[in-house]
Amino acid sequence: MLSLDEILNKTIFTKEDLKNLLASEGDDKKRLFERALQVKLEHLDNYVHLRGLIEYSNICTKSCLYCGVRSKNPNFTRYQLSDEEVIECAKLAHDLGYGSVALQSGERSDKAFTDKITHLVKEIKKIDNGSLGITLSLGEQTEDVYKEWFEAGAHRYLLRIEASNEELYYKIHPHDAKHDFKTRLNCIDTLLKLGYQTGTGVMVGLPFQTYDDLADDLLFFRQKDVAMVGMGPFIPHPDTPLWQYRDQIPSAEERMELTLKMIAILRLMMPEINMVAATANQTVDPMGREKAIAVGANVIMPNLTPNEFRENYLIYPDKACVKDKPDQCQTCLDVRLAAIGHRVLYNEWGDSLAFRKKSGVRS
Ligand code: 5AD
Ligand code: FES
Repeated sequence: MLSLDEILNKTIFTKEDLKNLLASEGDDKKRLFERALQVKLEHLDNYVHLRGLIEYSNICTKSCLYCGVRSKNPNFTRYQLSDEEVIECAKLAHDLGYGSVALQSGERSDKAFTDKITHLVKEIKKIDNGSLGITLSLGEQTEDVYKEWFEAGAHRYLLRIEASNEELYYKIHPHDAKHDFKTRLNCIDTLLKLGYQTGTGVMVGLPFQTYDDLADDLLFFRQKDVAMVGMGPFIPHPDTPLWQYRDQIPSAEERMELTLKMIAILRLMMPEINMVAATANQTVDPMGREKAIAVGANVIMPNLTPNEFRENYLIYPDKACVKDKPDQCQTCLDVRLAAIGHRVLYNEWGDSLAFRKKSGVRS
């Protein structure tokens, strides 16, 4: 078996290397984390980009077995923000200097919904002459819909694969036409083809998930050459079917550590992509987001959803920052990031460098 330094000195990791890195502990793990931070600082400096997160609606037509807002959970109130509320959130993002918003929602593909999103994207674009970048995270849609939203002004799209192993995918989603692995793959390919900065990702520490799966997830991100990746620890939700396996998964601390290793390894594999320090990290560990930034992540998505709706968007329990006000988040973030030698880059879209290079755009 190769030593950690022998692996770290390689330019391309094999699947075996990835599994060894995922299993690293103690001093080896520390050196993996240090190398990942060093590579990030060399390529991207110590900047963190912000996306003001707007959780547009928790109405969802799907039933993912891990997700608290799945259609089969009757235990909370469904909501959809009004157009005015969305625009207010976007203006707030602009006023706070965030540079970008991310519009996220439970999954719907009916025309009333897709038309509404087109309208909202165009309205957000009107704020200060298109100064806000727009990321969408609205699930699986047809190519025509993705195209319509792109033409309306959205330029980034997040669609996590959740698990790149088809077998595992069907252990965490119902096996039916609505939750089809091939459709999900096709959607990611379509987003890439249309020219979106495309983001994907997985949950870490799922029931049935192995190091083999996680290594394959990392290879999947590289093979698809995506511009952005989001990974966070799986958090069992009591109103979902996967809750029954809560005693068969790694501890919260282990899931957090494994997430950090995934982020660090991917930073070595794809030095110029954007990687988010997911809120799920902070839910599992109060310092989770900072830890993710310190091992390679470079994006944070502060929640701008009006507080009265937030507690109904609990995809997992005890979500962090549910009670914070946006301006509190702001001060809190600046201070927290300064403490780990990072700073927020305000008033910029913060596009992925990997994407900018690929599409020939320099800035
Ligand atoms: N634990 C952690 N992450 C979750 N997500 C959904 N449910 C959970 C959960 N129980 C993640 C999924 C989804 C993203 C919006 O949130 O990966 O893509
Ligand atoms: Fe809503 Fe999975 S439960 S998209």
